Amino acid sequence: MASSEQHILVTGGAGFIGTHCSLQLLQEGYKVSMIDNFHNSVMEAVDSVKELAGPKLAEKLQFHKADLRKIDELEKVFSQNKYDAVIHFGALKAVAESMQHPFRYFENNLIGTINLYQVMSKYNVKKMVFSSSATVYGQPEKIPCVENYPYMPMNPYGRSKVYCEEMGKDIQKADPEWRIISLRYFNPVGAHESSKLGEDPKGIPNNLMPYLHQVAVGRLPELNVYGHDYPTKDGSAVRDYIHVMDLADGHIAALKKLFTAQDIGFTAYNLGTGQGTSVLEMVAAFEKASGKKIPVKLSPRRPGDATAVYAATDKAQKELGWKPKYGIEEMCRDQWNWAKNNPMGYQKKA
Ligand code: NAD
Ligand code: WQD
Repeated sequence: MASSEQHILVTGGAGFIGTHCSLQLLQEGYKVSMIDNFHNSVMEAVDSVKELAGPKLAEKLQFHKADLRKIDELEKVFSQNKYDAVIHFGALKAVAESMQHPFRYFENNLIGTINLYQVMSKYNVKKMVFSSSATVYGQPEKIPCVENYPYMPMNPYGRSKVYCEEMGKDIQKADPEWRIISLRYFNPVGAHESSKLGEDPKGIPNNLMPYLHQVAVGRLPELNVYGHDYPTKDGSAVRDYIHVMDLADGHIAALKKLFTAQDIGFTAYNLGTGQGTSVLEMVAAFEKASGKKIPVKLSPRRPGDATAVYAATDKAQKELGWKPKYGIEEMCRDQWNWAKNNPMGYQKKA
């Protein structure tokens, strides 16, 4: 349990991973303040966190509508409370969009992060958990991906994560009081077991799981399986899917390390299961969990996609004492329960 005095600022708190993580933080005894501008989320998601937390814990949750790109809005949030650490989820994350609109990604993800580092420094809050991504590895020469592999981002989104990590390293070097943990998530999926929290992207989903969700509930007609001629077990691409609740646990473990270890400096950890699953295996597992046949169209490869990516997990397991609990079956079960009970996401009406 956290000290009841520990107050965590969660940027992007209304989003997919931010909501699950904030609930877990409240349940672990932390106070939580969320910042979000609702670019890719809605207030209903924050209300769901409060409902699941219950009235007593919900009192420990504050929400601030603010945009990370506006430093005066950030200053206002920092002037209202003393924070002990920040978890920084707030970013744009669509790979294809980043290739069409690189400025949008550099502006949002870099300026947002520079502002945050600056205001944190001014208010003497020097502990951060940063949301990074497996995308920093691109398609590495060897898998599993190990944290010391070179950066090889393949798009502006990925590059924005690399720049934020590099910035963190320099800031920490200049002022060794900083402790920064960068968590490189692989493919986060699933939902809270209550089916009251889940992923609800605005617009047509880019990622496999929310797309499957929308096909299963009839919002989209079929799933395009991008690539069936990869040199993999069944010709479709392989990824390392990880349950969002395991990710939330990974953040709690990282925070505990920030509060207790002296020698963090800047450290990166992979958060994945280490298991590779193909797109077609994922479709089969989702069909099994949902009892629904998913119409599939075998389509050409998606430009820029890697063949196979999965994580080396030893470092996180050893140094954070964190281990994922859930497999593909539970990821599909919880994703389906969320889909079935919320076919339109947080929007109540069709
Ligand atoms: P999400 O889009 O659901 O959540 C991000 C939240 O940040 C949204 O609520 C959005 O409105 C908010 N936001 C964006 N720009 C903002 C700004 N300028 N000011 C205030 N709020 C802002 O995404 P997610 O899946 O929860 O991802 C969270 C973090 O994890 C992101 O940094 C993302 O890059 C990273 N990540 C996600 C994945 C994934 O597949 N979901 C994988 C690896 C890394
Ligand atoms: C998974 C597999 C697709 C949709 C991206 C980012 C990464 C991280 C996670 C943020 C691929 C295939 C997908 C569909 C399909 N995000 N697919 N039909 O590309 O591994 O990773 O999200 O940091 O940085 O790059 O995830 O879910 O988009 O795709 O066949 O409609 O599913 O081609 O092989 P990806 P994804």
